[in-house]
Amino acid sequence: MKNKRALFLTGTLVTLALIVGGSQLWVFSQSRLGGFVEPLNVPELAESTLEGSVRTFDLTLQAGTTEFVSDVPIETWGINGDYLAPTLRVTDGEQIKINVANSLPEDTTLHWHGLHVPAEMDGGPHQPIEMNAIWSPHWTVSQAASTNWYHPHLHGRSEAHVKLGVVGMFIVDDAVELKLNLPRNYGVDDLPIIVHDSPIGLSSGNPLDFIGELFGSRQGDSLTLVNGQHEPYVEVSTSLLRLRLLNASIGDVFDFSFDDGRDFSIIASEGGLFDKPVVENSLLMSPGERYEIVVAFEPGETVRLNRSLLDDDNGAPADSESTLEFRAGSALQNLGALPDVMVTLPETSLDNVARTRAFDMSGVEINGLMMHMDRIDQVVHAGTQETWSVRNLDSRELHNFHVHGVSFRVLSVDGAPPAVHQRWDKDTVLIPPETTVELLVTFPEVSSGGWPFMFHCHFLRHEGRGMMGQYLVVEPDESLDPSNHMISSMAHTH
Ligand code: C2O
Ligand code: CU
Ligand code: CU
Repeated sequence: MKNKRALFLTGTLVTLALIVGGSQLWVFSQSRLGGFVEPLNVPELAESTLEGSVRTFDLTLQAGTTEFVSDVPIETWGINGDYLAPTLRVTDGEQIKINVANSLPEDTTLHWHGLHVPAEMDGGPHQPIEMNAIWSPHWTVSQAASTNWYHPHLHGRSEAHVKLGVVGMFIVDDAVELKLNLPRNYGVDDLPIIVHDSPIGLSSGNPLDFIGELFGSRQGDSLTLVNGQHEPYVEVSTSLLRLRLLNASIGDVFDFSFDDGRDFSIIASEGGLFDKPVVENSLLMSPGERYEIVVAFEPGETVRLNRSLLDDDNGAPADSESTLEFRAGSALQNLGALPDVMVTLPETSLDNVARTRAFDMSGVEINGLMMHMDRIDQVVHAGTQETWSVRNLDSRELHNFHVHGVSFRVLSVDGAPPAVHQRWDKDTVLIPPETTVELLVTFPEVSSGGWPFMFHCHFLRHEGRGMMGQYLVVEPDESLDPSNHMISSMAHTH
């Protein structure tokens, strides 16, 4: 059996806790354990100041505690707070700088997942922030309106740091999106929905995992949280609601749907808005992926967002669970209809493909190799396009593929065209067992200056164990042979 999460959600839980806990008792309050009685927490928008023309954000990574179960404070990490992080919001074309102070008890990094940044500012494994140090990346925002996110990426530690709570959203706005009739009132009709794991682990002494261990569920099993809460609710005051969905889990593939099976409109993937809305009634998301959806409500109704887990064994959705309840008010502000056409996107064309590369994923290796900080795996020319053919050789294990610094288009899945909502710009894609996904990758216009970008499986347990590689972007007249290049950080430290 894949997992025993359902156990945690039933009344049996209290009884189990009593048995396990003996007389010193962990008291489970139903309210803290979910049950749709707490209003959804919406991460604050990060404050910024203008230093000349540079919008500057100050982030402090810190350790703290959070009570998920009454009277049981669990160690959590967060940014400018005990848990999770404020939402960064910037506009295409502006210059930004982010001062990241590390007050955690460990070194870490902070990676801007989905942001098109110079490799040196990327916050990957080559930009560690030592304890008590401040790292101040800066760049000019240059990409379409989109929903991105940020999280630690220290080699081997991403999983732990993300699970402890260092996860935030990073929204880019632009002039095109602003003109469309879309819900965009943050926290009211435009909500960040961060779906992720609870930080609770046996090491923290939490009874939930202790019970999980006793009953044989996988180690470190945890609850599915939304914005840090288990089963919260949200009051809806408008006829349309925009949800910016992020799968920030360590290794769960979620199949999202509403409990009444209603349709919704998918309007954007990782790289930004679609040409037009795509109507679906379910949506599969692997770790790291984002989609924006718009849902319509009738006055007075209550509906829940469900998530099923994609089972490793047969790939079928299983273990369905409601994660978030929507309660529509008796009168809703009418937001009108979604636009039929949103943006004009360049058609996918293979006319300028410079070359093709193959990536075989198996176990925790890519092309038979595990990540090595000193090894450059691929070298590409600035301003070119390539097709990357990514194959999952495993017969049961799910993987996905994320590329830093770029957006890509999914050309095909096992030779067939991708689903309509997978056709546009993305940066992370699910690779099911024994499946080949072909990507059209467009590289940055400028060289990465010897700083590598990562490509990896975003199941962080795989990534942390080595399922990651590095590519350099070089000038068009430079060699594509990795042995002719050196990684800048290595040049500096040696
Ligand atoms: Cu979410 Cu390498 O990143
Ligand atoms: Cu990334
Ligand atoms: Cu994987």
